[in-house]
Order: sequence, then C-alpha cells, then structure tokens
Amino acid sequence: MAKNNPLIVIITVFLVLSLMLSLVKAAATNVTTDQHALLALKDRIKYDPTNLLDKNWSTSTSICTWIGVTCGVHHHRVTILNISYFGLAGTLPPQLGNLSFLQVLAIGNNSFSGSLPDELFFLRNLSSLRVVDLSYNQLSGTIPSSIFQISSLERLDLTSNMFNGQIPSTISKCQQLQMLSLAYNNFTGYIPKEIGNLTMLKELYLGINELQGEIPHELGNLAKLEILTLASNTLTGTIPSTIFNLSSLRSMGFTNNSLTGNLPPEMCQYIPALQRLTMSLNQFTGRIPVNLWRCRNLQIVSLSYNQFEGSIPRDIGNLTSVNQLFLGFNNLKGTVQAFLSNINLFALFIA
Ligand SMILES: *[C@@H]1O[C@H](CO)[C@@H](O)[C@H](O)[C@H]1NC(C)=O
Ligand SMILES: *[C@@H]1O[C@H](CO)[C@@H](O)[C@H](O)[C@H]1NC(C)=O
Ligand SMILES: *[C@@H]1O[C@H](CO)[C@@H](O)[C@H](O)[C@H]1NC(C)=O
Ligand SMILES: *[C@@H]1O[C@H](CO)[C@@H](O)[C@H](O)[C@H]1NC(C)=O
Ligand SMILES: *[C@@H]1O[C@H](CO)[C@@H](O)[C@H](O)[C@H]1NC(C)=O
Ligand SMILES: *[C@@H]1O[C@H](CO)[C@@H](O)[C@H](O)[C@H]1NC(C)=O
Ligand SMILES: *[C@@H]1O[C@H](CO)[C@@H](O)[C@H](O)[C@H]1NC(C)=O
Ligand SMILES: *[C@@H]1O[C@H](CO)[C@@H](O)[C@H](O)[C@H]1NC(C)=O
Ligand SMILES: *[C@@H]1O[C@H](CO)[C@@H](O)[C@H](O)[C@H]1NC(C)=O
Ligand SMILES: *[C@@H]1O[C@H](CO)[C@@H](O)[C@H](O)[C@H]1NC(C)=O
Ligand SMILES: *[C@@H]1O[C@H](CO)[C@@H](O)[C@H](O)[C@H]1NC(C)=O
Repeated sequence: MAKNNPLIVIITVFLVLSLMLSLVKAAATNVTTDQHALLALKDRIKYDPTNLLDKNWSTSTSICTWIGVTCGVHHHRVTILNISYFGLAGTLPPQLGNLSFLQVLAIGNNSFSGSLPDELFFLRNLSSLRVVDLSYNQLSGTIPSSIFQISSLERLDLTSNMFNGQIPSTISKCQQLQMLSLAYNNFTGYIPKEIGNLTMLKELYLGINELQGEIPHELGNLAKLEILTLASNTLTGTIPSTIFNLSSLRSMGFTNNSLTGNLPPEMCQYIPALQRLTMSLNQFTGRIPVNLWRCRNLQIVSLSYNQFEGSIPRDIGNLTSVNQLFLGFNNLKGTVQAFLSNINLFALFIA
C-alpha cells in the first residue's frame, strides 16, 4: 500500500469531510423541514390563477409527488424546485433556505416580488446548489452576498427583474459558473474585474443596466466565453483587445453605450466562430476591418450610428450567412453594388 501518498491522504480527508458535511446537513434537517419550507412558500403565494398549488400541494400526499418538486431517489429530500411558468405572484420565504439538498431553484416567468431573503442562500456553501433561475419576475433589492459563497453554482439567471446595487467582486468565488445573467435590471457601478476569474464562464449577459466605466481587460481571460452582451449601459473607453482573442466567441453585443476606439484590422483572425456582432449606437471610429469576411459564420452585423469611415470592404459580399447588415449613420463612402449580388440579405440598412 502506498505509504503516506499525499494524493490518497487528500482524497481520504476530502471524502471524510464530505461525509461529515452531509451528516451535519441530514441531522439538522429532515423531510419535515422540506415540507415546512414548501408550505411556507405556498403560504406566500398571493395569486395562483389555476389554484395549482392550492389543490396539488396537499399535506395528505408526499412532497415528492407535488407538482414542480423533485426528490432524491435515496434520501427523498427536495433536489429540484421548478415552478417556472406557473403564473404565480407572491414573495419568497426565508424557509426556502432550509431545502438543504436543493440543486435547482427555478421560479422563472412568474410574478414574484419583494427582495431575496438573506437566509435563502445562507448555508448553501455546504450544498450542491447548481442552478438558480429567478428570471422574468419583479424581484427587487440588492442580491444577498451569501449567494456568492455557493461554490457549486453553475447557472445564475436573474434576467429581467428590478435588482439594484453593485455587482459584488466576491462573485469570483463562484468558480463553477458557466452562465451569468444580470441583464435587464438596475445594477449600477463598474463591472468587477473579478468576473475575469470565472474561467468556466460561457455566457455573460450584463445588458440593459446602469453599468458605467470601462470594460475590464480581465474579461479577456474567459477563454470559454461564447456569448458576451453588454448592450444599453453607459460604458466608456475601448473594447480591450484581449476580447478579440476569445476564440469561442459566437456573439458580441456592445450596442448603445459610449464606447470608442477602432476595431482591430485583423479582428476575425482569432474569432472565426462569430455569428453576431452588434455595436450600433456608440462612438467607434476607424475603418471596418477588411478581413471581416474571415468571420464566415456572421449572421448579424450591426455597426450603425458610429463614426466608422472609409469604404465598405468589398469582400463583405462573401459572407453568405449574413442576413442582417446595419451600416447606416456612419461616415462610410463608396459603392455597395460590389457585394450586393452575392449577399443574401434579409435586411440591409445603409443610410
Ligand atoms: C424531523 O425532525 C423533527 C425534529 O427536528 C422531528 O420532530 C420529526 O419527527 C422528524 N420528522 C421525520 C419525518 O423524521
Ligand atoms: C399533483 O401533480 C402531480 C404532477 O402533475 C400529479 O402526479 C399528482 O397526482 C398531483 N397530486 C394531487 C394531490 O393532485
Ligand atoms: C423548469 O421547467 C421549465 C418548464 O417545464 C423548463 O423549460 C425549464 O428548463 C426548467 N428549468 C430548469 C432549470 O430545469
Ligand atoms: C428553517 O428556516 C427558518 C427561517 O429561516 C428558521 O427559523 C428555522 O429554524 C429553520 N429550520 C427548520 C428545521 O425548519
Ligand atoms: C418569459 O416572460 C417574458 C416576459 O413576460 C417573455 O418576454 C418571455 O418570452 C418569456 N419566456 C418564455 C420562454 O416564454
Ligand atoms: C458558510 O457561510 C456562512 C455565512 O455565509 C459562514 O458563516 C460559514 O463560515 C461558511 N461555512 C463554510 C464551511 O464555508
Ligand atoms: C430602475 O430604477 C428606476 C428608478 O430608479 C425605475 O423607474 C425603473 O423601473 C427601474 N428599472 C428596472 C428595469 O428595474
Ligand atoms: C484572479 O485573477 C487574477 C489575474 O487576472 C489573479 O491574479 C488572481 O489571483 C485571481 N484571483 C483569484 C481569487 O483566483
Ligand atoms: C439606450 O440606453 C438608454 C439607457 O442607457 C436607454 O434609455 C435607451 O432607451 C437605449 N436606446 C436604445 C435604442 O436601446
Ligand atoms: C492574440 O493572440 C495572438 C496569437 O495567439 C497573439 O499574437 C496576440 O498578441 C494576442 N493579442 C492579444 C491582445 O492578446
Ligand atoms: C470574394 O468573392 C469574389 C468573387 O465573388 C472573389 O473574387 C474574391 O476573391 C473573394 N474574396 C475572398 C476574400 O474570398
């Protein structure tokens, strides 16, 4: 037997700790705790158009048969709570924080309002919570900092609510995050450079907020990033050149900010997968990159309402996947005939 092999020691310590943590969790709470938590939620529902919970969430049946609830096969504790699209209105009770085996919390596309109770995420650092989807509700207030203690979190979707305050730099503790959407809220302040430490991130949506300042160049560390949207904020400065090296990028959205600077002449060399490039309503200058044709998968190109100058690169016509091309309200000159014959446009706006 490998004597004092450090790897084996580490693995053993890890296993023992995991076991202890799950025993602690199991001892502190049981299935009755989960039932209390769900009933507390039911109690907070002020509007339930089809009386769904009223009829279905009955104490005469096991919570594991309740609609929207999924339990673990062995421990019969709630692992998934998904009541998305139920048309419910109400608030979230702190007791939901007691669902200590929860992996997925999805309440999207309802009308939940009020702020998030601190307790909701309090003990989650001991937990396996992977998905939090609160999108398309009317939740408000700041996001509790306890959410950023959840190292297991993979998706955090807060799209379209009324959250405000700053994006905390402690977000970098959520090292497993693959999708982060804070879009369509009222977040203010700067984009924390610590987001650049979330190296698993594939999708980052921060559009339609009140974010200001420059785009941190640390975002160029997000090697797996496929979607980056920062539209409709009040961002200033240039797009960090490191971002044009993120070879997985499929969508870049910067529309409606106060961004300046040029597009790198060789920009399509390192981002060949790009499908959407939307940069309208900024103060970009310089020429449209002549090698844009190298981004063979481009479908939407929106550069209007900037100060781009020079001629429209002829080889844009070789981008046969483009179906929307917005170039109007710039200082471009020259003819467009050269490429119109090739391109299969759904919409062309060259004012
Ligand atoms: C859950 O634990 C409480 C005490 O904390 C106990 O009264 C209750 O009977 C337990 N319920 C089950 C189903 O084990
Ligand atoms: C609640 O809904 C689930 C899923 O639709 C169903 O299987 C279950 O029988 C319902 N329970 C009651 C008490 O209506
Ligand atoms: C929740 O349920 C909806 C509707 O059934 C589904 O579209 C969605 O993917 C589910 N969400 C999660 C996080 O599983
Ligand atoms: C559940 O949560 C509430 C509120 O956060 C708390 O008062 C209660 O002690 C918790 N524990 C159990 C076992 O219900
Ligand atoms: C969710 O609700 C929003 C706002 O009501 C709506 O725009 C969106 O299409 C809905 N999502 C889905 C998948 O239906
Ligand atoms: C879990 O988080 C709470 C508060 O957020 C903190 O007090 C506690 O020390 C954390 N525990 C671990 C094991 O990280
Ligand atoms: C943002 O806050 C303003 C008031 O400060 C409010 O009128 C507006 O509805 C909020 N927008 C969102 C998307 O929450
Ligand atoms: C975050 O990334 C920076 C480099 O951009 C590095 O210096 C720092 O140590 C990282 N911090 C954490 C907590 O990983
Ligand atoms: C641009 O963003 C501002 C807020 O920064 C917003 O009020 C305005 O409606 C947006 N314009 C467009 C065309 O989206
Ligand atoms: C982008 O990548 C290329 C090739 O790996 C490298 O030569 C260049 O310096 C990089 N640019 C930036 C801004 O990181
Ligand atoms: C674009 O297509 C034309 C013919 O339509 C061809 O002459 C030209 O070399 C192509 N350019 C590139 C960069 O592929």
